[in-house]
Amino acid sequence: MTASYPHTRLRRTRASAWSRTLHRETTLSSADLIWPLFVTSGNGVEEPVASLPGVSRWSVDLIAARAKEAVQLGIPLIALFPNTPADRRSANGAEALDPDNLMCSAIKAIKDACGEEIGVLTDVALDPYTSHGQDGLIDDAGYVINDDTVAVLVDQALNQAEAGADVIAPSDMMDGRIRAIRTALEMASHPNVQIMSYAAKYASAFYGPFRDAVGSGGLLKGDKTTYQMDPANGDEAIREVELDIAEGADSVMVKPGLAYLDIVYRLKQRFNIPVFAYQVSGEYAMIEAAQSVGVGDRDALLMEKLIAFKRAGCSGILTYHAPVAARLLNG
Ligand code: PBG
Repeated sequence: MTASYPHTRLRRTRASAWSRTLHRETTLSSADLIWPLFVTSGNGVEEPVASLPGVSRWSVDLIAARAKEAVQLGIPLIALFPNTPADRRSANGAEALDPDNLMCSAIKAIKDACGEEIGVLTDVALDPYTSHGQDGLIDDAGYVINDDTVAVLVDQALNQAEAGADVIAPSDMMDGRIRAIRTALEMASHPNVQIMSYAAKYASAFYGPFRDAVGSGGLLKGDKTTYQMDPANGDEAIREVELDIAEGADSVMVKPGLAYLDIVYRLKQRFNIPVFAYQVSGEYAMIEAAQSVGVGDRDALLMEKLIAFKRAGCSGILTYHAPVAARLLNG
């Protein structure tokens, strides 16, 4: 019920800066940000990712400095992705299970340097380790085999937890993997390792630059539509999340971000669980491209998009712009 004009003038509360501040419904701070970082082999290596201007891959010896930067900026969690050397990729992605792989080495380096000052999230899926670029084990027809893949993902998750990962984030979209991973973590005495499930992950055209960054783009034949979700579906995302909650997820993720805000909103209205969104590589690249061709201001575009995630109900946002955003937010 609202009085009619002129007794009600919605512009009244917008007329001055103090009043706009007072009436702001949603806030954003560096504590809402999760920073994805790419790890590469070698020593003293910073390798810019061409399709993600401003984003680099870092060798393990340099990765802890990035984590310290995140701590200083008030970013509570970083996410790690390896660019596995070509000669360590194979059909079954066995490199994912090596306790000395790039991922585990990076986790240890960060935990040694920062301890409990920052959380480390690790992606569970085989695509950075397979010679075919798919997220799991494939049969002769190239179909990703669900249950055999889940068995490997469990071992991958345990490998990461042993190295010190705080949050396991399965991004593979296999059925039943949350229960299998949760059970294994409990049995292996990792009761406090969280699971943030990529519960509603869509088969998206926005992942291109990421696949360049982890070196899987050129290897991938076909697409991921037999396991990632159809962008046309919303009800199915509710079912995915319902299952993941029942299987033991601590939080869920929607991915990509901006094109799926209705999904974030529906999940938040329906379930009592933290919902995160991943503003993915293509979204990052589009903001940077807008700035470089002069059709928008990068910082303003970024802030508007990030607040939209919070307004829709997100507890936090994974974004490659996390350090940029944190600097703007911290003044
Ligand atoms: C791997 C994975 C992908 C992303 C995160 N984890 C790519 C994919 O599913 O092909 C994409 C992230 C981004 O685009 O920023 N399973």
